[in-house]
Amino acid sequence: MADVITLPRFREMKSSGEKIVMHTAYNAWQTVLVEESGADVVLVGDSVGMVEHGYSGTVPVTMDMMLLHTASVVRARKRVFVVADMPFLSYEIDEREAVINAGRFIKEAGADAVKLEGGVTRESVIRAIVSAGIPVVGHVGLTPQTAASFGGFKVQGRDADRAWQIVADAEAVERAGAFLIVLECVPSQLAAYITNKLAIPTIGIGAGRECDGQVLVLHDILGLFRGFRPKFVRRYVDGVEVLGGALAQYTNEVRQGAFPSEEHTFNMDTEAAKDFIS
Ligand code: KIV
Repeated sequence: MADVITLPRFREMKSSGEKIVMHTAYNAWQTVLVEESGADVVLVGDSVGMVEHGYSGTVPVTMDMMLLHTASVVRARKRVFVVADMPFLSYEIDEREAVINAGRFIKEAGADAVKLEGGVTRESVIRAIVSAGIPVVGHVGLTPQTAASFGGFKVQGRDADRAWQIVADAEAVERAGAFLIVLECVPSQLAAYITNKLAIPTIGIGAGRECDGQVLVLHDILGLFRGFRPKFVRRYVDGVEVLGGALAQYTNEVRQGAFPSEEHTFNMDTEAAKDFIS
């Protein structure tokens, strides 16, 4: 295995202004694609619940689902850094349980770090996980696991009061010892302020271009998810059309007897065929 990117590299990238590229991926073949794109980090996001399991949100995602997807990603990676998302209620109940669950991602699934949502209210749990020797990525702004309590999937921090709360959240995440922080769905001015204020790198999703890096959901980039499409998504290919077209062609060719053709067929040699048929 090539050398996996190490934690100090992220701080170096922030200081040198080199953008950090994070993609989500949920299994081995997706990880191969992400790795070959040259990206730095794979996030095994709990967005898997929506894009692979058909749920309307991330709340139903379980530890078992996340461990299985993370292990599949880890088996395929060569050098990308793997972050596993802690699912809803795997870190909120008490710190002991949070450390045990975070540890399962490292020990059982082979992840390099875990991510969890929340700022000021999660400062002590982040500190506990970091003290156990597990690297943590924070996530503030729009936090999908608790989006209902903020009025749904909406941009956060458009007014000054909420913006200052998000600054306080980001500072709490850094103070607790996280090494990266995701800023989701916040105005670019707020993301730029936090990026300048924090020593740890910021990774934006719907947070403008001033962040130290960016993350998007793989299915959104590849046009493989036909559900909700937020304003911040750029679809680089219409995957449903391209891949769906290939599948339709296979279906038609099977129906018409055009597949398999001679080149995809095994044959006995002539003598063996004669013996077999006679
Ligand atoms: O679950 C996920 O994919 C995420 C990203 C959107 C940051 O948390």
